[in-house]
Amino acid sequence: AATPLVDPFARPITYLRVSVTDRCDFRCTYCMAEHMQFLPKRDLLTLEELDRLCSAFVGLGVRKLRVTGGEPLVRRNIMEFFRAMSRHLGQGLDELTLTTNGSQLARFAPELAACGVRRVNVSLDTLDADRFAAITRWGRLPQVLDGIEAARAAGLRVKINAVALKGFNEDELFTLTNWCAEQGHDLTFIEVMPMGEMGEEQRLDQYWALSDLRKLLEERYSVTPLTERSGGPARYVRLEETGQKIGFITPLTHNFCESCNRVRLTCTGELFMCLGQEDRADLRAPLRASDDDAVVRAAIREAISRKPKGHDFDYSRRHVSGQVSRFMSHTGG
Ligand code: GTP
Ligand code: 5AD
Ligand code: SF4
Repeated sequence: AATPLVDPFARPITYLRVSVTDRCDFRCTYCMAEHMQFLPKRDLLTLEELDRLCSAFVGLGVRKLRVTGGEPLVRRNIMEFFRAMSRHLGQGLDELTLTTNGSQLARFAPELAACGVRRVNVSLDTLDADRFAAITRWGRLPQVLDGIEAARAAGLRVKINAVALKGFNEDELFTLTNWCAEQGHDLTFIEVMPMGEMGEEQRLDQYWALSDLRKLLEERYSVTPLTERSGGPARYVRLEETGQKIGFITPLTHNFCESCNRVRLTCTGELFMCLGQEDRADLRAPLRASDDDAVVRAAIREAISRKPKGHDFDYSRRHVSGQVSRFMSHTGG
């Protein structure tokens, strides 16, 4: 077998996030602009090309594959890709999963389960229909709740991702927590990251440090820190009263880059070595230049040798630094 991927900071790279489309049926305000210029379809890698690239990564030791977007389930024929990737499960790949806005889950949940997907992460910041329509610009909450229900019915575990936003969902902390406890979903809160075009002032107004959110939880619950990790950036606690697991993704208050294990592939074959940096490597050219996967593997290794130490996001002193102008939807978070 090939030598596994290790970056310059001795971090093994075992987690690939692959954005299969830059399109989405919603326009969450912290993720996209209202009017997005999407990539022309001819620039996209075909599903066969994505398969070849992802398979090369699995051959190099990637054990977790997360499909993202945009919204991954709006890519045409995406189930073909899931079916193709499922052949790697147990053959190097431990986990095949996705992050979705949930809008198409009612339709796809059974097929996803049949492809060996065991859990899905669904973005849901509010349980209030009007607020939901506002944050997504035109999303419909009932459609997403139906999708989540369908996922559960198909036997998938659901993790809810809620971006913590001051003045938006602060007053829903316990509503979201209780709802997830009742429904049996895991819940992860996320600090809003400075990506895309949003102005500094708006970003700072929205930022809600998870250290503050956690204090509120501790006032109401007995909160036990857990040492387990999911292979992602979240740190978890258990609420003893309900037994539920709550995750915290804290790029601002607690940088977790030292344990980074992931890189991001876009739908045009660019590899981003860090979410919070602009550097990228073109894998489409080597992919198209040769049928020999050794060429692709060499390009991947070269890219990993440039992986930076981490992001530079920072909101201290009422000032945003380390901002990245690329929209979050470009790499799917
Ligand atoms: P799990 O497998 O459930 O742990 O998933 P995950 O948290 O790795 O993935 P998900 O797609 O649910 O992402 C949740 C949030 O974590 C999103 O806001 C991502 O942008 C963020 N995130 C994931 N990886 C990184 C990372 O390497 N750096 C930073 N700063 N944020 C990340
Ligand atoms: N900061 C933090 N998380 C974000 N997401 C999208 N944009 C941002 C941002 N600016 C989250 C979505 C989704 C995940 C892939 O990334 O809510 O759950
Ligand atoms: Fe679409 Fe997800 Fe971005 Fe919202 S966060 S606009 S649902 S890709």
